[in-house]
Amino acid sequence: MIDLRSDTVTRPTPGMLKAMTEAPLGDDVFGEDPTLNAFEERVATMFGKQAGLFVPSGTMGNQLGLFMLTQPCDEIITDESAHIFNYEAGGCAFLSGVQLRPLQGPNGILTPELIEPAIRTRNDWDPHTRVIGLENTTNRGGGACYTAENLTAIRDLALRHSLGVHLDGARIWNAMVATGIKAGFFGGIADTISVCFSKGLGAPVGSVLLGDKDLIRRARRMRKVLGGGMRQAGLLAAAAGYALDHHYAGLEHDHRRAQTLAREIAGMAAFDIRLDSVQTNIVIFDTIYEDASAVLEKLKGAGVAMVPFGPRCIRAVFHHQITDEDLEKTVEVLGMISNKT
Ligand SMILES: Cc1ncc(COP(=O)(O)O)c(C=O)c1O
Repeated sequence: MIDLRSDTVTRPTPGMLKAMTEAPLGDDVFGEDPTLNAFEERVATMFGKQAGLFVPSGTMGNQLGLFMLTQPCDEIITDESAHIFNYEAGGCAFLSGVQLRPLQGPNGILTPELIEPAIRTRNDWDPHTRVIGLENTTNRGGGACYTAENLTAIRDLALRHSLGVHLDGARIWNAMVATGIKAGFFGGIADTISVCFSKGLGAPVGSVLLGDKDLIRRARRMRKVLGGGMRQAGLLAAAAGYALDHHYAGLEHDHRRAQTLAREIAGMAAFDIRLDSVQTNIVIFDTIYEDASAVLEKLKGAGVAMVPFGPRCIRAVFHHQITDEDLEKTVEVLGMISNKT
C-alpha cells in the first residue's frame, strides 16, 4: 500500500533502530537520562529557547504550552482550521478552562489585520484574550507556511496587547525547508513552541515543548500530572535525534513530490485543487463528480491510501517512505479514476 494518509505512518528505519539500541539511558523522572537531557538542550538551543521538555505527543506539547500561558476564563485566538481547535478533543476547555476564538485565515494563516479586531476589552464580562495560537505549517490549511514578516508583525501585535504567542510547530521543519527561515527566528516570535519529530521527520514518537526555564520547570511538573513522565525516554529521544540528523534534508523531496502530484491533479477533470496552498508536503484536493469516500475506495483498491478531509475533499501527505515510483503510481491511479468518471 502506498500510504499517503499522513506523515505519521512512517516506520523506524534500521539506522534509527540502531541509534535507539545504542543510546545511553537513565530514569528521566529523576532527570537522569543523558540522551534525553542532551536532546532537550539541543532542540532548545536550535530554537533559541532556554529549555525544552520531551513529551509523548504534539497534542501534549500544545496543551502544556497553552496551560502555561493562560488562566481559566481566558480566550485563545486561533484559526478555525487549527489542530488545537479541531483535533485535541476539546482539551483546552478541560485542562486550561479556556475558550478558543477561531478566525478564518487564508489557508489557516492568521495576520495582525485578522487578529487585532478579535482582541477583547478587559471588562469583567469579557473572556480575557490571553494568547495567539499559531500553527506552522498549517495542517488543514494544506501545509501553508507563515512568512517571517507576518510572524514579526504578529509578535509585535502580541507585545502591544500583552498577549502570549504559542506556536504549534508540528511541521515546523517543513516550514523551515520551504521558507528558509531558521529555527532561532521562531524562538524570538513565540513564548512556547511545540515541535514534533513523529511527523515528516519520521520518528515513531515524540515532541518537545520549548520555552523559558521557569515555564518549562512548571510544565515538567504538569507533564507528570498528566502521566507523561516517562522513564528511559532517551530511547525515544535517540530516534528523534536520528530523525533530525538524517531525515531533515529529505523534506525538500517530499515537497517536490507534493508539488508534482498537485500539478498533475490540477490537470485532471474529476478533481479541483488550489495550487497556491501546496507549499510543503500536504496536498488537499476536491472531488467534483463523486464523494470523497467513493474516490478513496477506488484508490484503496488500486493500492493507494489517502484520507477524507470533507465530504468532497481528500488529503494526501508525503513522507520519507514515499518514493518517486510511488508518486508515479499515485498519479497513474488518480488519472485512471478521473478518466472513468
Ligand atoms: C498541526 C498539528 N499539531 C499537532 C498535532 C498533534 O500531534 P500528535 O498526533 O503527536 O498528538 C498534529 C498531528 O498530526 C498536527 O497535525
